[in-house]
Amino acid sequence: MRAAQISAYGPPEVLTWTRVPEPEVGPRDVLIRTAASTVNPVDTLTRSGALAEHASFAPPTVPGWDVSGVVAAVGARVSHLGEGDPVVAMTAHMATGRGTYAELVALDADIVAPAPASVPLERAAALPLAGLTAHQALEVLAPAAGSSLLITGAVGAVGGFGVQLARAAGLRVLAHVRTEGDAEHARALGADEVFVAGPPPSGVADALFETAGLPEYVGAVRDGGRAVSVVATHPPAAERGVEVRMSFVEQDGRRLAALAELVDAGALTLRVDRVLPLSEAAKAHTLFEAGGTRGKILLTADGSA
Ligand SMILES: NC(=O)c1ccc[n+]([C@@H]2O[C@H](COP(=O)([O-])OP(=O)(O)OC[C@H]3O[C@@H](n4cnc5c(N)ncnc54)[C@H](OP(=O)(O)O)[C@@H]3O)[C@@H](O)[C@H]2O)c1
Repeated sequence: MRAAQISAYGPPEVLTWTRVPEPEVGPRDVLIRTAASTVNPVDTLTRSGALAEHASFAPPTVPGWDVSGVVAAVGARVSHLGEGDPVVAMTAHMATGRGTYAELVALDADIVAPAPASVPLERAAALPLAGLTAHQALEVLAPAAGSSLLITGAVGAVGGFGVQLARAAGLRVLAHVRTEGDAEHARALGADEVFVAGPPPSGVADALFETAGLPEYVGAVRDGGRAVSVVATHPPAAERGVEVRMSFVEQDGRRLAALAELVDAGALTLRVDRVLPLSEAAKAHTLFEAGGTRGKILLTADGSA
């Protein structure tokens, strides 16, 4: 099969479309024929070598955490999925070395979920990593019903799901974005109030969900409130009795299935910025690193979605 492989740590050009051995399918595994993967910040950081000390592998490696596709084969001990099923999954590539920028991916069946039926299978790849990250972080934060939640990076991949999930949970959503154009986007996702560019007023929110690398915005949380961040490089400091937690995404097929149901129920929108073929993963990384994407960059088997 073919895959976009990182030959050595470095700029996007180290990602090359090449022939690699087909993955082995263990008894608990599902073999997925990839419809699409995506570009996540962790993929570009993996490629550059910024995460090398945390990774369980050295190049060459096939990166990628998100996948949507069709089940091509199942291991002997898999009973809840079968050949031909449309599925989605998030694999923690940094820990397992099993990446999704490939024509075929073999993953533990427990981290694989039925794909949402209401969207094209390629677009479904926009859900796993960002959706799970937002859902798990909000669980860590556990905001009180009816309370106000400030979300930074509110039109980013994780923040955008955060806005939608918080709104669906009945929270008052305050969004922080970079531009006036993003403000419209945040309102369309369900934000009740939007702050553009500069820091929001001190103490304006009961809680903070930080996804933009703006840890100083913990100042917008009222005394004794709560904050959760997913940006490990910029952890907010606890102050004025504000409880600060970090959240790191975990593989979870059941939770992903629940998120797929929310997509089908119309409670979660999947946003796609552009679509490229998997073979152009290097170009996709260059575009992503230039910033300003609104929705995921999809990497699909044939470049369409
Ligand atoms: N802990 C975990 O398990 C986990 C999981 C997933 C992601 N993450 C991390 O979470 C962060 C967000 O990931 P993502 O996939 O949502 O990335 P993303 O789609 O690029 O979203 C980040 C958003 O933050 C905005 N932003 C950045 N700096 C800003 C500033 N100074 N003012 C206003 N807005 C700003 C970006 O706007 P521009 O596009 O205009 O810059 C973008 O809309 C990344 O740091 C990623 O590494 C962590």
